[in-house]
Amino acid sequence: MSEMLDAPALVPDDEATDALERILRSRWSCRAFTPEPVPRSEIARILELARRSPSWCNTQPWHVHVTEAAGTARLRDALCSAVAAGGEPAPDIAFPESYDGVYRERRQISGWQLYDSLGIDKGDRAASRRQTLRNFDLFDAPHVAIVTTERALGAYGAVDCGIFVSNFVLAAHSRGVATIPQAALATQAPLLREHLGLPPERQVLLGISFGYPDVGHPVNGYRTERQALEELVTFVAD
Ligand SMILES: Cc1cc2nc3c(=O)[nH]c(=O)nc-3n(C[C@H](O)[C@H](O)[C@H](O)COP(=O)(O)O)c2cc1C
Repeated sequence: MSEMLDAPALVPDDEATDALERILRSRWSCRAFTPEPVPRSEIARILELARRSPSWCNTQPWHVHVTEAAGTARLRDALCSAVAAGGEPAPDIAFPESYDGVYRERRQISGWQLYDSLGIDKGDRAASRRQTLRNFDLFDAPHVAIVTTERALGAYGAVDCGIFVSNFVLAAHSRGVATIPQAALATQAPLLREHLGLPPERQVLLGISFGYPDVGHPVNGYRTERQALEELVTFVAD
């Protein structure tokens, strides 16, 4: 029988809100890292925080394979070789069928921001392809966390893992560690499955490259917008 605790009264804690707000407002997806490794103790601290994530029935379906040192180099080489060899993307979890309407618009805007930061002209397919390929060299990050979920838990298992990913990137940011979640890595699920020895019941969700940011790199110099509150909420009062 687990220990029973009195639920503490919840009161607004401005200091905590400010700290959380600072983290949420300042985090961004990093696309250029320095080679300096993150100490194992710091990685463990980030994971310690992320593991507090809620999940349906507390199933905690997430698992991460975190690469370090030669482990990162070996995986990076394998990914780059697989992509260079061509072949169709083969994610374990189906990618969006299309981006229409407002989703297409938001996707375009963030893409243009990315290309602008790098001086890539609209329509320069060769340069944008080169930037896409940077996903597979992990943007030079010293680490990648490959996040997998449990196949039988379906969409809600993936939701739980998404919450874990969110808490991982926020916890990392609070420790001065930059991150980027990458669905692009899921295109190489067959390679990742083999490389990491994943059993059939596990599905690759995405990878998170992480490390210390190359702060002078222009690709790290822009920030994305968000929709207005009125757009994202519908209050139902009666
Ligand atoms: C599930 C998920 C998958 C993503 N996949 C990629 C990716 O493959 N490559 C990439 O450059 N960015 C990827 N991103 C980063 C998004 O482009 C980024 O989060 C979004 O544009 C908002 O910008 P911000 O993270 O800087 O606030 C991904 C983000 C999420 C949450």
